[in-house]
Parts: sequence; structure tokens; C-alpha cells
Amino acid sequence: MDPMPIPRDFLLPLPAAEGDLELALVVLFLAHILLVNLMLGGALLTLAAEVRGLTRPAYDRLARTIAATVTVNKSLAVVLGVGPLLAINALYGLWFYTANALTGRAWILLVPLIASAFLLLYLHKYTWDALAGRKGLHLAIGAAGTLLLLAAPLVFLANVNLMLFPGRWGEVRGFLSAVALANVLPRYLHFLLASLAVAALFLAGWLCRRGFDFAAELPGLDRVAVKRELLGVALGATAAQLLAGPLVLLTLPPHGLSWLLLGNLAVAIAFAAAALVLLWRESGIEGPLGPRFWLVVVLLGGTVGLMGLGRHLYREQALTPHRELVAAHTADFRAASLGAEMRLAAGTPRLGPGETAASPGEKIFRASCMACHDVETKRVGPPLREIAGIYAGNPDGLIAWVKAPGRKRAGYPEMPPITMQPPQYEAVAAYILDEVFATPSESG
Ligand code: HEC
Repeated sequence: MDPMPIPRDFLLPLPAAEGDLELALVVLFLAHILLVNLMLGGALLTLAAEVRGLTRPAYDRLARTIAATVTVNKSLAVVLGVGPLLAINALYGLWFYTANALTGRAWILLVPLIASAFLLLYLHKYTWDALAGRKGLHLAIGAAGTLLLLAAPLVFLANVNLMLFPGRWGEVRGFLSAVALANVLPRYLHFLLASLAVAALFLAGWLCRRGFDFAAELPGLDRVAVKRELLGVALGATAAQLLAGPLVLLTLPPHGLSWLLLGNLAVAIAFAAAALVLLWRESGIEGPLGPRFWLVVVLLGGTVGLMGLGRHLYREQALTPHRELVAAHTADFRAASLGAEMRLAAGTPRLGPGETAASPGEKIFRASCMACHDVETKRVGPPLREIAGIYAGNPDGLIAWVKAPGRKRAGYPEMPPITMQPPQYEAVAAYILDEVFATPSESG
């Protein structure tokens, strides 16, 4: 594996409190993804109903009714998508940006891709009558729009997944290799199934709502039968999550897992299991939608909320080690650049008005060390008083360090090795150990 890239941070303050941004990210993302689910699941169910309408025309009307909800939901999904995008940029800019850059073309292609998908879906919706005699063409338009719509989340998913694994950044070459990471396709499957479940559940509530004149709007269809079919879809898709979910968990790199996350998932799964049982009962009932349906909505809502939280927990856990490396690297860089600046400033030793010529050791110190070392206070490196304490009577030890410094103190960057002529090493060591702290009376 290539060594893990460790970029430097921007060193800018967050635009709001970190906790607020995290909350905004989780909540806005959930709002966005639910509407994406409705849009995508709705588009798939529209197609399925329209295909069925080829033999049973009553379903064609159903397809049209569903299609009308898709374009509204898609508008809301897009607008709500801006929120999490802003929050993720503020909180994880470095990681998100890197993932975007690594999937470059696919990422930027999202714009024309999504725009084309939406235009095709509108075309599909508004040519229902005009193309009534050319159903094949009409279905092809809907299918093309839906296919493009299916591609967009895969690009997003590849990105938000890739940003979690800096260890893989070195080996990723564009979108396809980002999709090929083991856990992307299971996550995508998980998302598609959720879309079907959410959309079917929504439509069951929407078409069975009071105030919707089912018999007039959808002649030839039976309300209870449609309800049962939609709940059946929700049931099947949710049950399939019991397979897709573990697949996601097993393919996720384990370093992001924590007991908190597993506990969170266990509760989410318990909610989903309870919802499944209730859905099973409700879809078997030969009557209108009952209050049990709302319990299912609440339970699955809880599942979705916990999954959203779980995503965040995993992300935080997975990124913490790398974030610490980035912080250390950034601190080193700051100190080194500070040192370089000071070194430049101190580079030409100048004598003050009353000063006499410095000793050779002092000249070297001013030219090569003073940028980072002060006599009494910490600069980039420790003060000379500390150094003189360590190496008193041991100039060779000091010289050995200067030739090949190690990493010793926490909170300090690494000192660069400094190359000079042998007498210069000796002179600077003598200056630090014998001259600096010699009082005038002693030296005079
Ligand atoms: C670019 C900044 C920089 C310059 C220039 C620099 N140092 Fe350092 N020096 C450091 C830092 C940072 C440390 C602390 C490193 C650590 O503890 O890990 C350090 C530590 C030391 C130590 C302590 C070693 C120990 O065992 O604790 C000595 C001695 C030292 N420097 C001597 C020198 C001398 C002599 C020069 C000039 C010839 C010099 N340094 C130039 C940054 C610098």
C-alpha cells in the first residue's frame, strides 16, 4: 500500500460551534436523504406501475400519480442537499476535498448528469398524453431519467466513503477505483433498498390519505389492494436490509467501529424488526390503512435517525487517527516556517551600536541557530538555558545532536540537521556551553 498522504490543515476557525455543525450535518443530511429516497424510490415505482399499465391501464394512472410526487420531492431533495454539503465542507473540508479531487471527473459530471436526469423526468411527466400511443418511447424516457438518477448517488457515495479512508488515497485512480473499494456497493444496495421502502411507505400513506378521492382519481383500482401492494414492497425492501445491512457492516474497515456504534445499530435493528412485524400484519389486513401504519412510520423513522447518527459515529472514529496526524504535521509545518522566517531575519548577524565584534561561536549561533533558539525563552526550539543544562561539560554530545537531531520533546517540531565545518561545530558548542551564561565578572 502507498504511504498514507498527510496533508496540512487550513488553520482557519470553524464558522460555528463544532457541535452545532455536527448536529446540522446529521439532521440536514437525514432530511436530504429521505427526500432523495422518495425521489429515487418514486421514480422506480413509477416505472414499475407504468410497465404494469401496459396490460392493466388502471396502473398507468397510478404511475402518473406517483410521477407527480417525484418531481416535487426531487426539488426539495436538491435544495436540502445544500445544507449537508456546506456542513461537511466546514467540518471535514480537507478530507471531503481530497475525495472530490480523487474522483475528479465523475464528481464534476454530477452537474450535467443530475440536470439531464431532471429534464428527462419532466419530459416523461409532461408527455404522458402526447406519447400515449408510443408507450415504448415514453417508458424509455422515464427509464433513461431514472438510470441517470441512479448514477448520481453512487458518485456521492464513492466520495463520502473515500474521504474516510486516507490509507486508500494513494491507490485510488479516479471514480471507478473509488467505487471498487469493498464497502461502496453494499452501501449503495443498502441505500437503494431504503429508497424503495421509504417511497412505498410514503405512497401508501399518500394514496390512502383522507381527502384523496381514490375511486375518482384512480378508477379501476382497489384502494386496499394498492395499499397491500405498496406495504408489500416496503416489507420486502426492509426485510432485504437485514441482509444488506450486515454486508455493509462486514465490508466496512473495522477501525471505525466502536461499541457505541454497535449499540446504536442494535437499537436501530430492533426498531426495524418491530416495524417489520407490524408491516407484515398491516399488509395482510383487508381494510384501509390503520393506526399501526403510523407506528411503523415512527419506528422506521427511529431506525433512519439512528442510522444517520451511526454514520456520524463511524466517520468520527475512522477519521480521528488521521486527523491527529494532520494536526501534528500542521504544527510542525508552522514551527518550521516560523523558524525559517526568523532564520532569514537573523541570517545577517548585525552588531548593535555599542557592540564589539562577536566571538566566532556567537556569529555561527546568530547565523544558524538563533532563528529557533533564544537564550531564556522557548522559540521554535528550547531555550539555551535548557540546552546548556543538558550538555554542560559535554560539547561532543551537543555536536552529535546538531549533526543528527532526533525527535525528543512533545509539542516541538523536529530540528533539522545542520551541516557545517568541524571547527564551526566546536565554536558554536563552546559559545552555548561556556560563553552565554558566563557573567561579565567571571569572564572578565
Ligand atoms: C529550524 C529551527 C532550529 C534551528 C535552526 C536550530 N534548532 Fe536546535 N532545536 C530545534 C528544535 C525544534 C529542538 C527541539 C527538538 C526536540 O526536542 O525534539 C531543538 C533542540 C536542540 C537541542 C537540544 C537537544 C537535546 O538533547 O535536548 C540542541 C542542543 C540544539 N537544538 C542545538 C542547536 C544548534 C547548536 C543550532 C545551530 C547550529 C540549532 N539547534 C539550530 C530547532 C532548531
